[in-house]
Amino acid sequence: MVAFHYQDNQLWCEDVPLAEIATAVGTPIYIYSQAELQERAAAFVTAVPSADTLACYAVKANNNPAILGLLRQAGLGADVTSGGELFLALHAGISPDKIIFSGVGKRRDEIEMALDAGIRALHVESAMELEAIAAIAGERQQVAPIGVRVNPDIHAETHPYMTTGEKWHKFGVAPETAVTLLHTAREHPSLHPVGLAAHIGSQITAVPPFVQSAHFLVQMAEELSSSGIRLAYVDVGGGLGIDYGDWEIKRLRDSQQHQSPSIVEWVTAVTQPILAAGYGVVMEPGRSIVGPTGCLLTRVTYTKSQGGTQFAIVDAGMSDLIRPTLYDAYHPVLPVTQAAAEASTTPYTIVGPICETGDWLAKERGLPPLQPGNLVAVMQAGAYGYAMASNYNGRLKPAEILVNGNRFTLIRKRQDYTHLLDGCQAPE
Ligand code: LLP
Repeated sequence: MVAFHYQDNQLWCEDVPLAEIATAVGTPIYIYSQAELQERAAAFVTAVPSADTLACYAVKANNNPAILGLLRQAGLGADVTSGGELFLALHAGISPDKIIFSGVGKRRDEIEMALDAGIRALHVESAMELEAIAAIAGERQQVAPIGVRVNPDIHAETHPYMTTGEKWHKFGVAPETAVTLLHTAREHPSLHPVGLAAHIGSQITAVPPFVQSAHFLVQMAEELSSSGIRLAYVDVGGGLGIDYGDWEIKRLRDSQQHQSPSIVEWVTAVTQPILAAGYGVVMEPGRSIVGPTGCLLTRVTYTKSQGGTQFAIVDAGMSDLIRPTLYDAYHPVLPVTQAAAEASTTPYTIVGPICETGDWLAKERGLPPLQPGNLVAVMQAGAYGYAMASNYNGRLKPAEILVNGNRFTLIRKRQDYTHLLDGCQAPE
């Protein structure tokens, strides 16, 4: 489906004009489509009709409780990376046996929290961590279910900050270490080895590296099996990319096809070798579920032309969406009021009000003439948007809205100034 579309030259989300939401709630604001979210979540559940596959949504992509609740209803589990995310997943009612815990630096309190909850597995990323989990589980006379995250040393084309599966990265352990750790876990009375995981990176728009990773994991699992460790599941991680390119604008206008692999294509390809070998499958998708469901709606405050650049200064900035600043990321920007097809466009650089040269959302985009008060939508912003927002420059985190058909709900209030004092206290 296309959640965001033009109707009578106005940009809509499902059956609601974005301008109507801006009038009701103000800007900047994240707006998500419930139908798009549900369609994407369902694709992960139904792509391969097997009871042995589980999609554990990577909560880091967007942790709004309403969104987590919808994903739970769709049958998804959760991949969490901190005590905070575990809290949110449990709060959303996600069953502990559908929760896995990834991350290189789990603290004692977080391990205890996972053991209290009885999650499906802790995914171990070092020998020291395995020792810590064994000791903590031992003290509590519990048996901790263990997955090991292996670093398969696979290169995938993406931003260098988003590759995670090459041998010099901090993530996972080398294959020979993974084997040792799983043997240690089998011998230890407080540990139970259940899974083998890898996550090669994020925003990867080719399927072959994932298939390579799946084959690599299956081969390792089979070797472990022949040495007496039969794992319950193989976890291929997340990382399926979405379309951020400027062709996206053309798609909205001309209904062109997607360029990144579809969810069904990805799920079919990665699960095939794992299911064929008789293992359960775990996947950890984040961006591919929530990314295209959301936009960041912002209003032009001023415009100015200087140094050869036409700036549109808007009321959102890097504190709301840091991806352009951090990764030089491209997000499509659409005018909320569409210009006539023959109207001329100006190459605007869209910047925020923050005191950083890096505070930009888009560079030199052809847009109709912008005036203060005009609305523009930064698209493909449902993943790693609000989740990475901050209060930098004393800015308040934006509101979040969920659109369902012709209705919309405020699923997170905009912060007010008192949030800036949260937990603060004057010295004695
Ligand atoms: N599993 C693990 C262990 C991960 O580290 C991640 C993402 C995922 C799953 C989900 O990956 P996804 O399907 O969303 O690609 N802030 C960056 C993305 C960082 C991703 C970190 N790990 C961005 O804005 O693009």
